[in-house]
Amino acid sequence: MFKSLLVPIDGSEDSHIALNVACQLAAPVQGKLYLLNVRDPYPQLHDAELLSVEAAIKAASVETANREGRAILDAALDTLPSFPGYNGEFDLLVKQGSPARVIVSEAERLGVDAIVMGSRGVGQFKGLMIGSVSHKVTHVAKCRVICVHETPHQHATRATHEFVDVD
Ligand SMILES: Nc1ncnc2c1ncn2[C@@H]1O[C@H](COP(=O)(O)OP(=O)(O)O)[C@@H](O)[C@H]1O
Ligand SMILES: [Mg+2]
Repeated sequence: MFKSLLVPIDGSEDSHIALNVACQLAAPVQGKLYLLNVRDPYPQLHDAELLSVEAAIKAASVETANREGRAILDAALDTLPSFPGYNGEFDLLVKQGSPARVIVSEAERLGVDAIVMGSRGVGQFKGLMIGSVSHKVTHVAKCRVICVHETPHQHATRATHEFVDVD
């Protein structure tokens, strides 16, 4: 039974699918969903690209960060179809810091039953099947972690090609 779930959302399609799945998991007990967007002040550095000073300063402004984070969470909610069986509560959270660390610590602070997140996010390196944030959270979180992605068939086809490329 999933009475409370943490759904980390970065605006990616996978994270929207994760929200959809979380609603279905929470529906039987009308569990509570915590939607979390983490504003990373140094995303370009983490993506091993050149750090734009202007972008870093802008992202570091708490007010701007909260507004942008909130817009990402609202947009995710807009993607939800209406679930006949789910009328539970949504709590929207925007935090600053390193995404994986914040996701794990928020899951502990909130005492959620599980984290439901995307396999991939908005990052540009699509060669791997799982992103660095989902990889870290899966290994470090003390609660269950459910990683979801686009339709299983599409993902399986893509993965087969990736393995062929790697070999
Ligand atoms: N800044 C963030 N805030 C909230 N959730 C995030 C954030 N970054 C990633 N996630 C979660 O982690 C999932 C996987 O993203 P990630 O590991 O960053 O892959 P990628 O490298 O493709 O961006 C996303 O679908 C989302 O659920
Ligand atoms: Mg990412």
